[in-house]
Amino acid sequence: MNCRRGNPTMRASTVLLCGVVLIQLFAAQIHSQRPKSPWQTLSGDAPLVIARGGFSGLFPDSSIDAYTFAMRTSAAGVVLWCDVQLTKDGQGICFPDLTMSNGSNVESVYPKRQKIYPVNGIPTQGWFTIDFTLRDVKEISLNPGIWTRSDMFNGNVEISVVQKVATMLKPDGFWLNVQHDAFYAQQNLNMSSFLISTSRIVSIDYISSPEMNFFRKIAGHFGHAGPSFVFQFLEKEEIEPTTNQTYGSILRNLTFVKMFASGILVPKSYILPLDDNQYLLPPTSLAQDAHKAGLKVYVLGFANDVDIAYNYSFDPVSEYLSFIDNGDFSVDGVLSAFPITASASVDCFSHIGSNATKQVDFLVISKNGASADYPGCTNLAYEKAIKDGADVIDCSVQMSSDGKPFCSSSIDLEGTTTVAQTPLRDRSVTIPEISSVARIYTFSLTWSEIRNLTPEIISPYTDYPLRNPNEKNSGKLILLSEFLNLAKESTSLSSVMVSIENAMYLREKQGLDVIKAVLDTLAETGYRNGTTNTKVMIQSTNSSVLVDFKKQNQYQTVYKIQETVRDIQDSGIEYIKKFADAVVIQKQSVFPEADRFVTRKTNVVERLQKSRLSVYVELFQNEFASQPYDFFSDATIEINSYITGIGINGTITEFPFTAARYKRNRCLGQKQTPPYMTPVKTGGLLKNISPTSLPPAEAPRLVITDADVFEPPLPPVVQKSPKSAVRTSSTCAQEPSRQTQLALSFILSVFASLMREAGYLYLIGCQQPGGVAVLSDE
Ligand SMILES: *[C@@H]1O[C@H](CO)[C@@H](O)[C@H](O)[C@H]1NC(C)=O
Ligand SMILES: *[C@@H]1O[C@H](CO)[C@@H](O)[C@H](O)[C@H]1NC(C)=O
Ligand SMILES: *[C@@H]1O[C@H](CO)[C@@H](O)[C@H](O)[C@H]1NC(C)=O
Ligand SMILES: *[C@@H]1O[C@H](CO)[C@@H](O)[C@H](O)[C@H]1NC(C)=O
Ligand SMILES: *[C@@H]1O[C@H](CO)[C@@H](O)[C@H](O)[C@H]1NC(C)=O
Ligand SMILES: *[C@@H]1O[C@H](CO)[C@@H](O)[C@H](O)[C@H]1NC(C)=O
Ligand SMILES: *[C@@H]1O[C@H](CO)[C@@H](O)[C@H](O)[C@H]1NC(C)=O
Ligand SMILES: *[C@@H]1O[C@H](CO)[C@@H](O)[C@H](O)[C@H]1NC(C)=O
Ligand SMILES: *[C@@H]1O[C@H](CO)[C@@H](O)[C@H](O)[C@H]1NC(C)=O
Repeated sequence: MNCRRGNPTMRASTVLLCGVVLIQLFAAQIHSQRPKSPWQTLSGDAPLVIARGGFSGLFPDSSIDAYTFAMRTSAAGVVLWCDVQLTKDGQGICFPDLTMSNGSNVESVYPKRQKIYPVNGIPTQGWFTIDFTLRDVKEISLNPGIWTRSDMFNGNVEISVVQKVATMLKPDGFWLNVQHDAFYAQQNLNMSSFLISTSRIVSIDYISSPEMNFFRKIAGHFGHAGPSFVFQFLEKEEIEPTTNQTYGSILRNLTFVKMFASGILVPKSYILPLDDNQYLLPPTSLAQDAHKAGLKVYVLGFANDVDIAYNYSFDPVSEYLSFIDNGDFSVDGVLSAFPITASASVDCFSHIGSNATKQVDFLVISKNGASADYPGCTNLAYEKAIKDGADVIDCSVQMSSDGKPFCSSSIDLEGTTTVAQTPLRDRSVTIPEISSVARIYTFSLTWSEIRNLTPEIISPYTDYPLRNPNEKNSGKLILLSEFLNLAKESTSLSSVMVSIENAMYLREKQGLDVIKAVLDTLAETGYRNGTTNTKVMIQSTNSSVLVDFKKQNQYQTVYKIQETVRDIQDSGIEYIKKFADAVVIQKQSVFPEADRFVTRKTNVVERLQKSRLSVYVELFQNEFASQPYDFFSDATIEINSYITGIGINGTITEFPFTAARYKRNRCLGQKQTPPYMTPVKTGGLLKNISPTSLPPAEAPRLVITDADVFEPPLPPVVQKSPKSAVRTSSTCAQEPSRQTQLALSFILSVFASLMREAGYLYLIGCQQPGGVAVLSDE
């Protein structure tokens, strides 16, 4: 609309109209300038982090240690949750259940006090809190009661008294959950009077219960600034004792709930339901409906060490984000046994678009592509890795019998495909150089046979859900050339990593030259003449392969140390530098563990980096079983400890999404790093363990300093053997001791002597007893 010109008769009204429009425009502008809360919670505030029994994923539920640790590691405002139970003498204690055998040692302290009581009409057997006075309870120790959690912590593990938690720790928020008021009333114990008198001494911020009648009893007994009442929904088919209706049917009348409660507490599945195979179904409208009814929504059931929907790829941060940052709604609070992960999800990872600035620089290197989501080394696994934000995708090159290089995580096709269930199973052969049992190897099949095989996803943890069953056999194995072309088309990749193993065996015994095949394919696909900016890294555990590529002067060479190393000597590093630009080491070479506890940190990374070698660490996985307890069953915390704690140059991961998202983590850019994004203190958890349950100490050899024992490596031995192309030589002066033998496999390649033979350099070395510098674990 043009406001200056126009027909004079219309001028007056136009001026008026223009004015109105301007005012409206102005108002809209002001409105859009007002900082709008990014949170779709009822209040617009960030969702609450509620620590269930404290940090009960680590320390025993409801112990003072669990509560203290929750406060120390969580976002400001963390709410401590206590399941209130009453003792025989009417005192309140925090304990997750009415009965105590799950979660404490009551059975062994009071073997004869087991009883049967009706609980909601059902006769229930156990050690009930109501049969113990506060004094009796003092003799009982808490324990985890869940097999995935360590039972080694026994610091402050006595049962906590409700008031003491509040007076001692002064939490920002204190939440009391009363699961069984009716039961206590039947036993002539008055929960209401306990709560009312307690609220005069300490501040109670929330009271929750699945029993409606309880809210009737306590309503009006607290002042205006009294606790918020939260009605808990149990499973949908369960009966609510006051109304005799199922929780599912009560859910249909939220206005009714709003009459006595300001919020509801629901299981995760009320909002994001699962199908029978543990995949997410579309979200329900419960969060929005509850908000419309003026109710806050709290969700329970978050823990890093329980099964979550497959859609999250075992990443607990992804799960929280789907409840608090999904574009449609945010729940108002999450009840978690691992409040550190909830805190990081809220504060560091919410509302960061996929284009947010990277706060930290390191390479996310895939391992066989996104091999937890799709079978490794398939087109789908690589496409997903690129989409997930990997900087480098990797191809483990194998050779078909007709000399075609292709990608497969193993030279043995049985673990990675369903070949053993096909007629090709009769190609199984025993190759002592590779395995003592008969297997079906890549070099026994032609490419046209291999390309039609059905690939299979590998699930490394047997006690744990399998990886993405829906995609268990999806995708196709691809040629190295297809892999390289795929990478070339991506704008986000900085490099490809091509891994070469078994080169000598293939050359000698199968007449297949994998090195030549790789070089030729790189040339064919334009990686050698500058057609693409994507760089090439060549990785091998065998230095002789790298020496070959190093000569080309065109590729980054990456030396992979498969064994766990505790230390590395300067001479070793000098040798590595001759043929490698970067080194891959195992996680345990950085943070050695015993019994799933980190015992210390080595200086291997620091030493390699000082010599300007980049260090990449493998293998990062999301399954909590892959991590020591120190990282709280949270892959992001583990990555953070390696990146900001150690400063490695890259993570090699089967879950590139988690590592790539970590880079955009808002908390890294803050002046003061919050506790949930601080690298873990090495060996910190060990301090919480009693001396009797300490993991076995590392062997004393590891405390010995290099200067004490180190003897220089043997001088290079140049051997010539014109007849054979390969020769393993180890002319050690003395019989190596057991421990040096352990380490020999690695020392062989590090404390090596250069040997030029048939145009190849071989690195072979010896180690004298006592001269232990590099040790392996096994
Ligand atoms: C013990 O309690 C935990 C959590 O409180 C629960 O997950 C587990 O199933 C219980 N175990 C038994 C045997 O009831
Ligand atoms: C429980 O205590 C409350 C508050 O003191 C009181 O109003 C109520 O009558 C008591 N209930 C019984 C059954 O004694
Ligand atoms: C609760 O409902 C069930 C089934 O509708 C009925 O059999 C039962 O008598 C009811 N109980 C009470 C206390 O109303
Ligand atoms: C919800 O509950 C209230 C209070 O009991 C009742 O008046 C209303 O009719 C109920 N609404 C529905 C849809 O059942
Ligand atoms: C979860 O994964 C399944 C299987 O891939 C898919 O069908 C479903 O749409 C996903 N659910 C959500 C909410 O993304
Ligand atoms: C991220 O950036 C790309 C390219 O600039 C753009 O196409 C995409 O829409 C952006 N995504 C978001 C979530 O902003
Ligand atoms: C590089 O090599 C590729 C593949 O052989 C070829 O298609 C391309 O034209 C070459 N480019 C240049 C600049 O030589
Ligand atoms: C490494 O390759 C050389 C030949 O280049 C071979 O002699 C040696 O056995 C290989 N080492 C290992 C550990 O495979
Ligand atoms: C590897 O990391 C170290 C320490 O963070 C850094 O000094 C070095 O520049 C990095 N190397 C490369 C090639 O980025």
